[in-house]
Amino acid sequence: MNKIKLAEDKKTNATVTEQPMSKIPITRPVFGGEEQLAIEEVLKSGWVVQGPKVQRFENMVAKFVGCRHAIATTSCTAALHLSLLAAGVSPGDEVLLPSFTFIATANAVEYTGAKPVFIDIDLKTFNIDPVKIREYLESLPRNNPTWPKVLLPVALFGLCADMAALNALAREFGLVVIEDAACALGAVRDGHPAGTEGLAGNLSFHPRKAVTTGEGGMVTTNDDTLAAEIRQLRDHGAAKTDLERHLRQGGSLLPEYFHLGYNYRMTDIQGAIGTAQMNRVEDILRGRHEVAERYNRLLVDIPELTIPYVPDKYYHAYQSYVCLFRTDPAWFEDGSEILPEILANKNRERNRLMAALEENGIAVRQGTHAVHTLAYYRQKYGLDDFDYPRSFIADRLSITLPLYYGMTDDEQIRVVTVINKILAD
Ligand SMILES: Cc1ncc(COP(=O)(O)O)c(C=O)c1O
Repeated sequence: MNKIKLAEDKKTNATVTEQPMSKIPITRPVFGGEEQLAIEEVLKSGWVVQGPKVQRFENMVAKFVGCRHAIATTSCTAALHLSLLAAGVSPGDEVLLPSFTFIATANAVEYTGAKPVFIDIDLKTFNIDPVKIREYLESLPRNNPTWPKVLLPVALFGLCADMAALNALAREFGLVVIEDAACALGAVRDGHPAGTEGLAGNLSFHPRKAVTTGEGGMVTTNDDTLAAEIRQLRDHGAAKTDLERHLRQGGSLLPEYFHLGYNYRMTDIQGAIGTAQMNRVEDILRGRHEVAERYNRLLVDIPELTIPYVPDKYYHAYQSYVCLFRTDPAWFEDGSEILPEILANKNRERNRLMAALEENGIAVRQGTHAVHTLAYYRQKYGLDDFDYPRSFIADRLSITLPLYYGMTDDEQIRVVTVINKILAD
């Protein structure tokens, strides 16, 4: 059990009050009686896979996001895989994606046999840098046999990427845009919800996300043909869904299979949890936003931490509250010199801060990883840490603070008090 020294006896210098501290988790799902009831209904109904509850969950997400189709899958990784396949990505193609993201973004590209081409981020937003995309595209011969097919931006930590600039680039260079909006349910850019600005968006319902079904994902799209293909691909390639078969006459006949599909079907147990979660999505998102804004106020005077940046006209969904630790202001500028030993020193200090917070019962994490530094990608594509310097800085100096719906003032003050104390030592 974690303990914290609360006071010391001035005369003897002995610890006089050592009390167990409750842990502050990195996040906490919002589950209650509604989810339990919804699960019970499914169990009683006996329809437990990709049935009416999944359909209802899909309809609720489509309405909330503002798109024509939402197609549930087992995870966002599966959703990304299917979106890429349905967009025509095949072995030998190139897909452009940020080098600072969860590994699943790149893995989904690998599953298709295409090559993930990493692009560095803008350190302010943690999102893919349109300037770097242009540099890469302009460095290619126009008759390149493997002209990149897809641009796969990520709305990292719940902040939309600069989709206006990215869509303009996509039009200029003939790319299809698929959004990884795993973290971004509820995020908005200039009136456009995350997941609606590309051919398809992809959401995650993993427990680190605001709305969770345990595991789960969803493709969002306005494209009828793409939606129809993804519905088949997630269900072994079946040309008709179980719902279509069983709710109409002739359900005993098996459908035709035109594609090599997968089993990426969501269960109705997850779908039911999702419907209960979506009933209070606005409340969950508002609650998380309030916690983030309170952090903004509490942390603004700590010079060692750079708090999340929110560009004008963006609404941050704060799937994670990610700060940068002791980053050099010059490092935000492209082309600035980054001395490896200075970054390594700062990284050691960041790790000490994270370890001290953990010792005090406060869960923290680095933001996410620079995927090009992870062994599989580094070795397969011969990459170096400093190939994407801003992603490498973000990997080494980011720190995610606990954030969840219902986090109390006292808990947040405890986080900030411990940070201040550690930094003062
Ligand atoms: C940016 C990003 N993309 C993709 C994923 C994969 O989501 P899932 O766990 O639902 O497969 C995650 C999950 O954390 C993520 O953060």
